[in-house]
Amino acid sequence: MIINLISKIGEKYDEIYFFLYKEEKMLINKHFEKHVDFINKVIEKKDFKFKNGEKLSIVLEENNSLVELNIIGLGKKEKSDNFTLRTNIFKGVEGIKNKKIAVISESIENGKLVAESILFSEYKFDKYKEKSKEEKNNLDELEVSLLGNISLEELNEAISIRDGVFLARNLVNEPANVIYPETLAIEAVKASEKYGFTVDVYDEEKIKELGMEAFLAVSRAAYYRPKLIVMKYLGDPTSSELTGLVGKGLTYDTGGLSLKPSTSMDTMKSDMGGAATVIGALSIIASQKIKKNVVAVIAACENSIGGNAYRPGDIIGTMQGKTIEVLNTDAEGRLTLVDAVHYTINNEKATKIVDIATLTGAALVALGTTTTAAISNNDEFYKMVEEAANLSDERLWRLPNFPEYGKLLESKIADLKNIGGKYAGTITAGMFIEKFVGKIPWVHLDIAGTSWTDAPYDFYTYGGTGQIVKTLYNLIKL
Ligand code: BES
Ligand code: ZN
Ligand code: ZN
Repeated sequence: MIINLISKIGEKYDEIYFFLYKEEKMLINKHFEKHVDFINKVIEKKDFKFKNGEKLSIVLEENNSLVELNIIGLGKKEKSDNFTLRTNIFKGVEGIKNKKIAVISESIENGKLVAESILFSEYKFDKYKEKSKEEKNNLDELEVSLLGNISLEELNEAISIRDGVFLARNLVNEPANVIYPETLAIEAVKASEKYGFTVDVYDEEKIKELGMEAFLAVSRAAYYRPKLIVMKYLGDPTSSELTGLVGKGLTYDTGGLSLKPSTSMDTMKSDMGGAATVIGALSIIASQKIKKNVVAVIAACENSIGGNAYRPGDIIGTMQGKTIEVLNTDAEGRLTLVDAVHYTINNEKATKIVDIATLTGAALVALGTTTTAAISNNDEFYKMVEEAANLSDERLWRLPNFPEYGKLLESKIADLKNIGGKYAGTITAGMFIEKFVGKIPWVHLDIAGTSWTDAPYDFYTYGGTGQIVKTLYNLIKL
């Protein structure tokens, strides 16, 4: 998609998309003075009410050629919200190809929202389909001229955001025979070269040296060997503040010996959604040259089965020193995360930390597929994350970390056990990580429900959603 900004409707377009609130019909006058009587007659004849998402197509003659004007209703202005606006714009321009179109969106104050929604409508993941190769040979460029409340700078930011979110989605959508720890690291390196951050990739030897015993236990049975991926972007060398972003990087989760049933396993290529999120977010942060310091860490591995797999009942060590009784090998994410979090605080000296993980099926039970679950040890830092989520139009809901939930993780024979029992699974998983954080401000984001969708909804397509990439970017920018 090529997108550029215009201040008036001038050149020749194949189609014009005009987004309008009910109260702002008079804007038709401004852009289509010559045709206004005709347009109003059609509106009356078709009983067009400017309802949410309602569409009216009118063919007009301009300079001896025909142009299709599509008016898309936005409903009543005071009733409108950002989610609905994004959906209307996304659906309005979704699937248009090989055309030059103009979009008039000046009645929508937030022009960045408009640009993002147009850009997001282009997402597809069809590289494994024969047809897509044929289509590539044809010209499928969409050219958009946008007339709205947006500066060139904001448009460039929206393009960066699109790139970061699409990168995260692609990484999630790639199958586990393509994206495994080593290739995930290669993708991180590619992004670092493209957007301007640094990456260190540590192999098993170094992971052993670091004492990441829990991470290694999870990795043990897999054919693809683990990698510790450490990405850094230092935009403010004068500051000692450093935000750590730790993403769960299970490139596949079979459940291990506590094997998942097939129907729960089939989307487990997406268990590196947290890793994809931090790579996507750091790409945007770096390309926008945000003046903050960020370290993003991924303990990438696959939870597999085999003769040397870790077992239910095993007691394993951690980099931090605590011992863990493993009572379910499918609760593996928290084991990799506690070592990654400890590494980020202890070795990289992060002063604040956010971990992002497809951690619990219980998050889907509690909040469904649209809202990310959060746990935090710090109200002030949580408020910042919440503000960032609001700026991003990504839904977030905080769950409590009352001490009685933490008690559910006490083991009879080790310092902790890796499951907290039948209830409050999202809370106990989050609080398991909290036990390795210490005093620094920490927010845990469980994206098990939100990073993937089995069916398109609102402005999301099937598969990886890239949710929380924008929240992390806006958090760092705050
Ligand atoms: N990766 C899963 C969580 C998950 C479930 C992500 C559904 C996306 C969709 C995680 O490793 C897991 O299996 N968690 C267990 C924990 C349980 C054994 C305490 C779960 O949620 O069942
Ligand atoms: Zn699991
Ligand atoms: Zn998992």
